[in-house]
Amino acid sequence: MSRVALVTGGTRGIGAAISTALKAAGYKVAANYAGNDEKAKAFEAETGIPVFKWDVSNYQSCAEGIAKVEAALGPIEVLVNNAGITRDGMFHKMTPEQWNEVINTNLNGVFNMTHPIWNGMRERNFGRVINISSINGQKGQMGQANYSAAKAGDLGFTKALAQEGAAKGITVNAICPGYIGTEMVRAIPENVLKDRILPQIPVGRLGEPEEVARCVVFLASDDAGFITGSTISANGGQFFV
Ligand SMILES: NC(=O)c1ccc[n+]([C@@H]2O[C@H](COP(=O)([O-])OP(=O)(O)OC[C@H]3O[C@@H](n4cnc5c(N)ncnc54)[C@H](OP(=O)(O)O)[C@@H]3O)[C@@H](O)[C@H]2O)c1
Repeated sequence: MSRVALVTGGTRGIGAAISTALKAAGYKVAANYAGNDEKAKAFEAETGIPVFKWDVSNYQSCAEGIAKVEAALGPIEVLVNNAGITRDGMFHKMTPEQWNEVINTNLNGVFNMTHPIWNGMRERNFGRVINISSINGQKGQMGQANYSAAKAGDLGFTKALAQEGAAKGITVNAICPGYIGTEMVRAIPENVLKDRILPQIPVGRLGEPEEVARCVVFLASDDAGFITGSTISANGGQFFV
């Protein structure tokens, strides 16, 4: 029986690559998204992966969305917390709304998604929770106090929950991507990418979404059962913890 995997923000960018790679590895995959129906429907038509719309920043919506996924595919055994947003700004200009939106999606969203699934994983004595954090949660980034705080919070959550899940066969790990060539990053002006960003990356290029997806497939596998509470940095050598 193939395992069921749910990927939040699984219809675009890194999340789409994760959903596709998990399907190729034999999982029954569901992809969640927030509001871009056009992209989500196109992704569903192209990949055959069913898409489910809800906002991860709302606990009740998560509980209801998870129930729908489980009714359609079965109990969720692999949860990939990938949904994330940026609302950048220097701290002296950052509004409470910018702060709250990012914390609510990137940090509270991880609680909202993991909490309703956790007891089922405990009962079945198996689970994989994989949190997509960021290099900027490890090193901090000017203009991203909100995002860096949320992504660092995801790493603390990962390490604490790993200790709680270990005796129940549940692993909890994080991946910290560096600059990955998604729409968001490719929208950065060519000269900024070439002159300011690429020189910071020793391998000399952006990462590909599929390179993050392959880390997820490994962490989800039975082969990774002894790895928990860990962080994989996929950043081209830009930052070492
Ligand atoms: N790209 C990078 O270089 C990079 C680097 C480090 C870390 N990351 C992290 O990797 C993850 C994916 O990034 P990405 O660049 O692939 O992002 P992206 O292309 O902007 O895609 C984001 C996905 O998350 C969904 N989403 C956003 N807010 C949501 C919410 N409240 N509820 C449910 N779904 C929501 C979006 O749904 P809609 O399509 O409906 O909007 C979309 O599917 C994020 O956590 C990001 O912080 C990215």
